[in-house]
Amino acid sequence: MKKRVAVLISGRGSNMRVLVEAAKAADYPAEIVLVVSNRLDAAGLAWAREGGIPTAAIDHKAFASREAFDTAIDAALRAARVDLVALAGFMRLQSAGFVEAWAGRQINIHPSLLPLFKGLHPARQALQAGVRISGCTVHFVSRDMDAGPIIAQAAVPVLPSDTEDTLAARILIAEHRLYPLALQLVATGRARLDGHLVRIEAPVNQAQLVCSPDTAGAC
Ligand code: GRF
Repeated sequence: MKKRVAVLISGRGSNMRVLVEAAKAADYPAEIVLVVSNRLDAAGLAWAREGGIPTAAIDHKAFASREAFDTAIDAALRAARVDLVALAGFMRLQSAGFVEAWAGRQINIHPSLLPLFKGLHPARQALQAGVRISGCTVHFVSRDMDAGPIIAQAAVPVLPSDTEDTLAARILIAEHRLYPLALQLVATGRARLDGHLVRIEAPVNQAQLVCSPDTAGAC
């Protein structure tokens, strides 16, 4: 049985698209049954609609509180009988109740090697810190932003000529490889929340957990 996945977005939705594409494979363990956006004008929302994927546009500004907005999201997820939630550029902090309700069933992608460079502008932060390697992380969502247990990471080089835009673009390419692999691990139950860590069940292709310039061909 494929896991039923909802992808939550706020913008262009390129990570959502690669999850949708990956899930078209007959042997992929998840199907994208819903795309939710808090922004009615999100480009990703239009793309999903055109592709015939069920969508929900839930404008956070229409709700009096964060909790009320999260309750509406939760209702949409339950109505679609969603098993797993994948955040993909979803720019809203979630209430503690929502995070707890979906603990171990909600994942996020962040464009840095966490725990470094949480929050906004991680590529800018990487350049300011002078690191030679950055990348992206898929993690379970916990109460603290960008701090949940790590499932998989991909590394990319930081080049001397990089600007924030060129580094972010290189990281985005790695994100597009990593996110479908990480969702696959979670959907098959091979990556499971275990306290503050993620337990990985063998057998697992190491390239699914760590993508680096060396393993890029493999992942
Ligand atoms: C990605 O860099 C993701 O890691 C971050 O927000 C960006 C969303 O891009 N959380 P997209 O909407 O998936 O194209």
